[in-house]
Amino acid sequence: MDGNGRWATSRLKPRIFGHRAGAQALDRVMHYCKDAGIKYLTVYAFSTENWKRSEEEVSGLMTLLSTFIKSKEKELLENGVRFRVIGRRTDLSEKLQKEIAELEEKTKGGAFTLVVALSYGSRDEIVRAAMKFKGSTEEEFAECLDTAGIPDPDLIIRTSGELRLSNFLMWQAAYSEFYFTDKLWPDFDKEEFDKALESFSKRERRMGGRLK
Ligand code: FPP
Repeated sequence: MDGNGRWATSRLKPRIFGHRAGAQALDRVMHYCKDAGIKYLTVYAFSTENWKRSEEEVSGLMTLLSTFIKSKEKELLENGVRFRVIGRRTDLSEKLQKEIAELEEKTKGGAFTLVVALSYGSRDEIVRAAMKFKGSTEEEFAECLDTAGIPDPDLIIRTSGELRLSNFLMWQAAYSEFYFTDKLWPDFDKEEFDKALESFSKRERRMGGRLK
């Protein structure tokens, strides 16, 4: 969800103002996904590196997440949304960990899954998985990742003109398609979403094999 900071700065507002607009964009995108028949949406909300940001921004983001969790429960349940968090959740406050666990439990019957990556870094996830791993196959290893049970992403969208993966779902992205846009995340709208899906629909996905 890149570009929140720049979006706010260009309006002479504090960065947290952009993150709030980013949370609203997430609300919209969830609806676009559901309408398009997409079953899983994963958003990168806070990376293991984001702890290095100013205390003001970090605490503002944590408050925003906690508010999202508390205020969205009813709406998520009504809309059949399953909430899941990936990342090193022990980094989060005990209060936030508890709120997350409760929302995950309450929404576990939902048919649409919203995965929020929090204090997430792909290398960190892989190291933690390696510590648990006792098997010998890729499938068994994938079961040790935070994303166990969640299919690999078909499409990864990166906003705000950045052209990197930045430690996001590196194992899971092995065969993902990518869509890059200059649009800042708070401006991500239905038109851009449709463009991303259209671009995806034109790709020839061989997954390493050959199509006849
Ligand atoms: C990256 O943009 C965005 C973030 C680090 C935070 C994203 C978090 C939210 C939108 C909060 C809402 C999330 C939920 C699940 C309610 P940036 O700050 O790096 O922007 P910049 O590149 O323009 O500086």
